[in-house]
Amino acid sequence: MKAAVIHQYGQVGDVVQVTDVPAPAVGPRDVLIEVRAAGVNPVDHLIVKGFMAAGALAGPVVIGSEVAGVVTEAGAEVTRFAAGDEVFTRVDPRVGGGFAEYVAVDESLVAAKPANLTFEEAASLPLVALTAWQALTEQSDVRAGSRVLVHGAAGGVGSAAVQIAKQLGAEVTATASTGSTELVRSLGADRVIDYRSEKFDEVLSGIDVVLDTIGGDTQERSLSVLKPGGSLVSIVPVPDAEAKKEQWNVDVRSFLMRPHGEQLTALAALAESGRLRPLVEKVFPLDETPAALQKVERGGARGKTVIGVRP
Ligand SMILES: NC(=O)c1ccc[n+]([C@@H]2O[C@H](COP(=O)([O-])OP(=O)(O)OC[C@H]3O[C@@H](n4cnc5c(N)ncnc54)[C@H](OP(=O)(O)O)[C@@H]3O)[C@@H](O)[C@H]2O)c1
Repeated sequence: MKAAVIHQYGQVGDVVQVTDVPAPAVGPRDVLIEVRAAGVNPVDHLIVKGFMAAGALAGPVVIGSEVAGVVTEAGAEVTRFAAGDEVFTRVDPRVGGGFAEYVAVDESLVAAKPANLTFEEAASLPLVALTAWQALTEQSDVRAGSRVLVHGAAGGVGSAAVQIAKQLGAEVTATASTGSTELVRSLGADRVIDYRSEKFDEVLSGIDVVLDTIGGDTQERSLSVLKPGGSLVSIVPVPDAEAKKEQWNVDVRSFLMRPHGEQLTALAALAESGRLRPLVEKVFPLDETPAALQKVERGGARGKTVIGVRP
């Protein structure tokens, strides 16, 4: 099968190749998915560069961490899916396998694809929607009336988070750059701050939950807009979290999202009802996977980059 692989870690342009590799083995709890489309995320180019590496690679590794496609084979112990089912899933990026014609995935990580979405739209959702869901409902407690600040709201995680926070009943303020503010407003944000022309910490206070997708100075300044007892949930590292908790009397944490088939099923229902809208910015063919990764690496996302694997 055709797949995007690396044989060693390095820069995307130097090490990512689209080539023929053997199709994956199907374990007893796996479904084999014929991939129609795969979402691209910052973690994919980080993996290519050796982020999360446990050592040198023993052989070619297929990269890619989320897909939508059709089940072509189910392992002997699979109970929820059968050949012909349309599905989507987030694949463990350390295992990879998404930028390929086929991927084998444990059925507990898989959900039925929302019927109203194209494969490209469905492939754009698992990682970012699960991350946003876990940040707002597990790592913090967003509920009706919560005042939430979402940073990077035109990006993958931010665009899902704005919509999910609104579904939870929150009042949502979002940050984005100049060209993206209308897009973020269209996702349902009550207030959008153009971070290039306005300092959010000079105009906001009394926030219950900040979702930080940016880090650095944005993360630091976010502490001052929280009310006492509020939460800063970050998906990038937080230096000195314990000291910050004490200094500001708030909860401060960073977390890594985890794949979760049941949560993905709930998010699929939200998408099917039109309350969670995928935002696909650009689709690249599988042969152009390096260019897709480089686009994500350059930043400035206005939604997701997707690889169309087959029509
Ligand atoms: N911990 C986890 O489980 C987890 C899960 C998913 C992602 N992540 C990480 O979270 C980060 C975001 O992921 P993503 O997929 O959402 O990335 P993305 O799609 O590239 O989106 C990032 C967005 O942030 C905007 N931005 C940049 N600087 C900003 C600033 N100072 N203030 C407000 N917005 C700003 C960018 O647009 P402009 O440049 O136009 O402003 C872009 O729209 C990445 O570092 C990723 O690796 C972690």
